[in-house]
Amino acid sequence: MSEPVLILGATSAIARATAAAFAARGHDLYLASRDLEELRRIAADIHLRHGVEVRYGSFDAEATDTHAEFLQTVIAEMKGLSGVVLAFGYLGDQIAARDFSAGAKIIAANFTGAASILSHCANYFEPLQRGFIIGISSVAGDRGRQSNYVYGAAKGALSLYLQGLRNRLYSSGVRVITVKPGFVDTAMTYGLPGLFLVASPQVIGERIARAPGKSADVLYLPWFWRYIMLIIRHIPEPIFKRLKL
Ligand SMILES: NC(=O)c1ccc[n+]([C@@H]2O[C@H](COP(=O)([O-])OP(=O)(O)OC[C@H]3O[C@@H](n4cnc5c(N)ncnc54)[C@H](OP(=O)(O)O)[C@@H]3O)[C@@H](O)[C@H]2O)c1
Repeated sequence: MSEPVLILGATSAIARATAAAFAARGHDLYLASRDLEELRRIAADIHLRHGVEVRYGSFDAEATDTHAEFLQTVIAEMKGLSGVVLAFGYLGDQIAARDFSAGAKIIAANFTGAASILSHCANYFEPLQRGFIIGISSVAGDRGRQSNYVYGAAKGALSLYLQGLRNRLYSSGVRVITVKPGFVDTAMTYGLPGLFLVASPQVIGERIARAPGKSADVLYLPWFWRYIMLIIRHIPEPIFKRLKL
């Protein structure tokens, strides 16, 4: 196996583009999500285009009791891993702000499930003293807004978790990279009102696959979101709370 990479949430548009960009660099892949039929199609397409070995299997972020065994199976099948990309996510809708059962699903899919599988990944890479973990969070996690604060809170928690993990794994030489996309043209954002500066998944995927070879720990994608969020984070709270965002 050539430097295998595990992609979690591999049926997402951003993950697909990321998988293709890793394959173009010669990495073998393990694709995981809940939709095995779609994974089979994506795996066949990437294998055909790039000639790398692509395996796939079922993974449910919310089934945390299956995560340890899932990762062991992947490691055995791929004869080790050189990196992991955590791409799964669930936007839900704003009903979640008033109905906690809907909110709990957003938190479970975006944060609890991520923290669970990442803890197993970290325990695998730490003693090896090499490897990378890329977590796809969101600019939505940088500041709470009335339009999506349950999703934002889950992504904000994920960003903080990745920051702590980076601090823990630094001395073992394992890279932990936080990716914060702005708006990307995918199924998640299809038909949403008020989108601007929407990026293509291909641009985002290419930048993610380049990240392990670069030194940045936190990547805003595209780059200008770093400055947009810098401004948004610095709006004083007495003003921010009055805005319709
Ligand atoms: N699109 C944007 O504008 C945007 C902006 C910022 C951040 N992001 C983040 O970027 C990532 C990819 O987003 P996208 O827009 O490409 O997503 P998408 O097309 O909506 O796909 C979502 C992915 O998450 C997976 N998923 C959801 N719940 C899951 C669960 N319980 N267990 C396993 N997999 C699960 C789905 O896989 P299955 O249904 O096959 O299981 C699917 O692959 C997400 O983390 C998202 O939050 C997106």
